[in-house]
Amino acid sequence: MSLNRHIVCLLILEVTFASGLLYVCLTSYPIVNHKIWKHKQALFNLAVKEENVSPKELRRETGQSCVFPVHSPSLVPCQQNNLSEKRRILKKSLPWLELEATLNASKTLLPGGYHQPLGCASPQRLAIIIPYRDREVNLKILLNNLHRVLQKQQAEYAIFVVEQENGTPFNRGLIKNIGYVEAKARCHFDCFTFQDVDLVPESERNTYWCGARALHHSRELDILKYRIFYKYHFGGVITLNETFFSTINGYSNLFFMWGGEDDDLFHRLLKKKLPYEFSRYPRYTAMTHKNDPHHTKEEMAVYGKSHLRYETDGLNSTGRLYRLISVDYKPLYTRIYVSVNQTEVLTQLKHYGINL
Ligand code: BGC
Repeated sequence: MSLNRHIVCLLILEVTFASGLLYVCLTSYPIVNHKIWKHKQALFNLAVKEENVSPKELRRETGQSCVFPVHSPSLVPCQQNNLSEKRRILKKSLPWLELEATLNASKTLLPGGYHQPLGCASPQRLAIIIPYRDREVNLKILLNNLHRVLQKQQAEYAIFVVEQENGTPFNRGLIKNIGYVEAKARCHFDCFTFQDVDLVPESERNTYWCGARALHHSRELDILKYRIFYKYHFGGVITLNETFFSTINGYSNLFFMWGGEDDDLFHRLLKKKLPYEFSRYPRYTAMTHKNDPHHTKEEMAVYGKSHLRYETDGLNSTGRLYRLISVDYKPLYTRIYVSVNQTEVLTQLKHYGINL
């Protein structure tokens, strides 16, 4: 055999060996990966059984920077295939146990409502923050639909339901800021969605995802025959990344009762000249409930002067305004239960010339 033939044979042998090795690696990687993930999951389940486990302790228990048992990313990026434009909304409010069983049939949902697709890598980890009080039926229906949509989109996400204790008027902006702070204390998230409990996405193509702009999802509601509220409406469901949210100092903490905090947030985006966009699949089904009373026109006029206070009223003043009562890693979501310090909020309002 000539020297050239030797070299060619050797090359063929090497290539065959290398591809064999690569094949073994690729096929066994998800199995190994899955085993490690199962182990972390078991540790996590053990840790969440303890009451009042701090995020720090939980992270130590699970040996990672995230309290959820995140598995190492797969080699294959996730694809968003076969997303339907119009999905069937599930409107029945199931008992919790039944809901938990149906949603976790594939066993990929972990305590705290955390999900990571198996077998492919999602490029972003998303925190869904739902401000909540006393809307159990809405919450069940939303979870039944949202988990399905997000899993169809192959998203890696955790759902945080932030519940305000009774006794003080609801403060949606403050509650959303608390959700952001408490989610970040538990894991690194690339992207944050603030989602009203009564709005169900109608399209799987309405991706919960951070692009280069802040995104308003819920532009068109069935109850308004899919007309928009007004051009710069930025309430209901929005998604933005950490940099945007911290640049605008989050939401205002000073809007008690219903409405206004989303308009204020939009002014903050404009003030900071941050780009925004509207979802291409903006349809939502709104579930009915009784609204809290809206602010008076006079209050709105004062609240409207967001540009005078956005640097001091927001994320950087949130810490003084609440107490964490408990954190519960439930099967379908993480419940963050808080009490709001109303006296302190009223003091801050006075400081900005608003007397309620
Ligand atoms: C309120 C917003 C609300 C919008 C649509 C406005 O009057 O200020 O907070 O999102 O109405 O309901």
